[in-house]
Amino acid sequence: MDELKPPQRLLLGPGPCNVPYRVLRAMSTPLVGHLDPLFMQMMDEVCAALRDTFQTGNQMTFPVSGTGSAGMEACFVNLLEPGDTAVVCINGVFGTRMADVAERCGAKVIRVEAEWGGPLDQQLIIDTLKQHPEAKLCAIVYAETSTGVLQPIQEIGAYLKDKDTLFLVDAVTALGGVDLQVDAWGIDACYSGTQKCLAVPPGLAPVSFGPKAMEVLKTRQSKVQSWYLDLTMLMKYWGSERLYHHTAPISMIYALREGLRVIQEEGLQNRIERHAAAAGHLRDGLADMGFGFWAAEGYRLPPLTSVFPPEGWDVEGIRKQLLADYDIELGGGLGPVAGKIWRIGLMGENACVQKVAVLLRALQDFA
Ligand SMILES: Cc1ncc(COP(=O)(O)O)c(C=O)c1O
Repeated sequence: MDELKPPQRLLLGPGPCNVPYRVLRAMSTPLVGHLDPLFMQMMDEVCAALRDTFQTGNQMTFPVSGTGSAGMEACFVNLLEPGDTAVVCINGVFGTRMADVAERCGAKVIRVEAEWGGPLDQQLIIDTLKQHPEAKLCAIVYAETSTGVLQPIQEIGAYLKDKDTLFLVDAVTALGGVDLQVDAWGIDACYSGTQKCLAVPPGLAPVSFGPKAMEVLKTRQSKVQSWYLDLTMLMKYWGSERLYHHTAPISMIYALREGLRVIQEEGLQNRIERHAAAAGHLRDGLADMGFGFWAAEGYRLPPLTSVFPPEGWDVEGIRKQLLADYDIELGGGLGPVAGKIWRIGLMGENACVQKVAVLLRALQDFA
């Protein structure tokens, strides 16, 4: 094999996004052991900074070893037991994946669906929950990366606050890029991924579990079916006992720690506003060029814009050319819109006017 020399791509797809150099540098610093006192201190720092980012006081907030899907599985396998009912809201690929994972846990899944590209009606979800008070949880994707829809969720959280049903939220493309208030919005369990708005490589899934979720975990009748993702055991490593469970991915924790330091320095609110401003510039520029938007007006997700290129554009051909000739990566469509849309991510340090200008300039060559 030759020496590894990847090109410097501008990663404007659905994630991963480009990572600040200081995060990459943190990954190349010397390893310590996963039970080293220095590493333990780092674990505490990372958990505290994640709490700030999730806007929660939940003690059980830590990064699961694995990508966003591991965070998803960690939530479902720990909170569901065979025979439980789960209300799963679906308006895109990741809602569909949640339903699949819930069924694999042996749950009876009640689907609430909306057309892809639009939001789910919160009242319809609440009405479904009223019909199913036995539901163990209600799961929803807050930022649907497959469609670019930012789903309103606060009314559901408020409804479930004094109910037994847990509120489980996918915040993979939200954490660090759009407002997300785990405690104030009544979210009982939430998961994310590092490669989106946290601007850290893929490999960790920050999760947060509130008191209601922890109670459900304590009163389970059966063992969690996944050994690796069993929170009762993971708690013993990430909590005060520091008991070995698995070998933590040290370099990824270094990276996450540095990525969270970047967020602290910028300020979470400033970062969220920067993502919104960059998305506004992108939408204006694309609208001027004749692009159409898939996500419904008023529900567009700042970190991910889904667009229909103008009539006559070779959607997939141009996307390939952007990568090959311009080193710009965009995402393609998934499911029913495969080959029809582009998904343009402005996440982390890429959420800025300069990167938008680079993309718009490149696109002019195809107009
Ligand atoms: C909303 C959402 N949920 C879950 C996932 C799964 O995350 P991963 O691909 O990191 O496993 C993704 C990935 O893009 C996502 O966008």
